[in-house]
Amino acid sequence: MIISPSILASDFLNLETELKRFDGMSNVWLHLDIMDGHFVPNLTFGHPVVELIAKKTRIPLDAHFMVTNPEFYIDTFKNYEIYNFTFHYELFEGNHSELISLLKKAKLHYKSVGLSIKPNTPVNVLSLDILSNLDLVLVMSVEPGFGGQKFMPNSLDKIAYLNVLRKEKKLNFQIQVDGGINQETAEQVREKGADNLVAGSYVFNFPHHKTKNAIESLI
Ligand code: DX5
Ligand code: ZN
Repeated sequence: MIISPSILASDFLNLETELKRFDGMSNVWLHLDIMDGHFVPNLTFGHPVVELIAKKTRIPLDAHFMVTNPEFYIDTFKNYEIYNFTFHYELFEGNHSELISLLKKAKLHYKSVGLSIKPNTPVNVLSLDILSNLDLVLVMSVEPGFGGQKFMPNSLDKIAYLNVLRKEKKLNFQIQVDGGINQETAEQVREKGADNLVAGSYVFNFPHHKTKNAIESLI
């Protein structure tokens, strides 16, 4: 089980201190929500901030790109030691071959490549040839764009479906869930087979010295 705290919920004016919450922890990634103000109606941070974060932490960086042009980011983030690079399926509806070639391109530069589906996207759009190019599937359990939203239970069936399929077809992708994760919803998604949980407000609402408790309560 991996927990990926999203710094979207952190205190941006004290980011260096916030990063220290996770020093020395294993099974933790750091989730970076990169939004371009086009794919989602919100704008977060980009190159200069990610470059600084990468220099300050040894926790694997998990970048979730909510952007309209992931190819640009594949190229321009490749020197920042991002561990996992996730972008959105919805950009490629009806353009299967472009999606596959972009996944292969991302894999040249990143150890782990993920693809995300929004709450209204059915999970069976992820055909086997897509899944066989993935290290991670990110099931969104809120509409992307903002932290602090309520978990949408329609993600549970998608997780269960992916979990059965990966066993049947012997595929190795992780199942990550993002949005509205707290102690209660973490249990629900774990039961369905999720093995990587993004959590923003839940984790960062704990006092600094109790961060370990927050992570353990999700595991
Ligand atoms: C939403 C982001 C999430 C967000 C989760 O677009 O992708 O990663 O930070 O926040 P919480 O855990 O507060 O729902
Ligand atoms: Zn995210």
